[in-house]
Amino acid sequence: MAILITGGAGYIGSHTCVQLISQGYKIVVVDSLSNSNIESLNRVSELTDTEFPFYNVNLLDPDSLERVFEENHIDSVIHFAGLKAVGESVLRPLDYYHNNLTGTFNLCKVMEKFHVKKIVFSSSATVYGNPKLVPIKEDAPLSATSPYGQTKLMTEQVLRDLFEADSGWSIALLRYFNPIGAHLSGRIGEDPTGIPNNLMPFISQVAIGKLDQLSIYGNDYATVDGTGVRDYIHVVDLAKGHIKALEHLMGTTGVEAFNLGTGKGYSVLQMVKAFEKATRTAITYSIAPRRPGDIAECYADSTKAKKVLGWVAEKEIEEMCRDTWRWQQRNPHGYKHDQVLT
Ligand code: NAD
Ligand code: WQD
Repeated sequence: MAILITGGAGYIGSHTCVQLISQGYKIVVVDSLSNSNIESLNRVSELTDTEFPFYNVNLLDPDSLERVFEENHIDSVIHFAGLKAVGESVLRPLDYYHNNLTGTFNLCKVMEKFHVKKIVFSSSATVYGNPKLVPIKEDAPLSATSPYGQTKLMTEQVLRDLFEADSGWSIALLRYFNPIGAHLSGRIGEDPTGIPNNLMPFISQVAIGKLDQLSIYGNDYATVDGTGVRDYIHVVDLAKGHIKALEHLMGTTGVEAFNLGTGKGYSVLQMVKAFEKATRTAITYSIAPRRPGDIAECYADSTKAKKVLGWVAEKEIEEMCRDTWRWQQRNPHGYKHDQVLT
């Protein structure tokens, strides 16, 4: 029996593969490599000293996906595959709806055909839109502020409807807050294409000298110091959350949403200071206008994940910064190791 990991070559997927293998699970990975590099999976093998089947398959191609189910004994799925850039989704909504929704429909149809009814889905804190109350609980009102966010909301609804129609399904909707950090080895980490959109990869590329300075998007929010507050969670803690969710699904049917966050909010300026302290590097920054669509404050109440899954985030912000920096220093150009810094 094996767990199918869609999007397993990506940032969160690759870290989850390492954790799964380390805990004795057999995995099969499917990824189109549209936003990742096969080198991440080579390094998963190297870190775990384990080979596993990999299929360069797009979820938009159901026939190839069926072959994966024919050739492997799959009993559950962790579904990471999707496009994830908020700004890009505003510019290319059709690509986002097509990839994220049709990809999931194809996956679920093939799962049904092969009587596989356990799925852990990568949702996002973005489904809370602009939250009225923090910390955010799972029963807070849901809304979307971008096509990307809509794809997460809609997929959650599709999966709920699937359970309504067939109570044999067992579904976990994991709403991640802001994943950062990297594996302790510095061998796998986040490898954004082009100029990073997200704060942490941006900071670490300033630190290594690839980017000149950080623009802090607004310092007039109603927060501790005027800059945006988020719940940053170590990617290894997040990976472990998937295993807890999967184990929960083994003994139950139903559909449940879980927040995966630390419950602590850090402002942009606090993150800059934390990174500087943990890595002893200076980050040049300036204050820029607010980024359209950004919210002031967002952090999780993860009590439900603790109670139901027995999961809590363990790693603190210092470790998140140190691990991000180790990955960045050892891989200044991510997985494209044939390039050199100029
Ligand atoms: P990522 O881009 O690193 O990984 C996603 C992987 O999916 C990539 O390897 C990509 O090649 C693959 N993929 C995309 N479309 C595919 C398709 N149609 N068929 C096969 N493979 C496909 O992203 P990540 O940060 O690891 O995120 C994983 C999941 O978690 C995504 O669904 C994302 O929306 C969600 N999420 C991410 C964050 C975050 O901040 N990183 C936060 C909340 C939710
Ligand atoms: C964090 C803070 C920015 C970059 C996004 C998605 C969300 C989820 C995680 C997928 C904010 C500020 C950032 C920069 C800055 N992804 N910032 N300068 O926006 O909380 O969440 O990633 O599901 O859906 O929206 O993360 O890292 O982009 O921003 O000042 O160059 O850093 O304004 O306050 P965000 P982020």
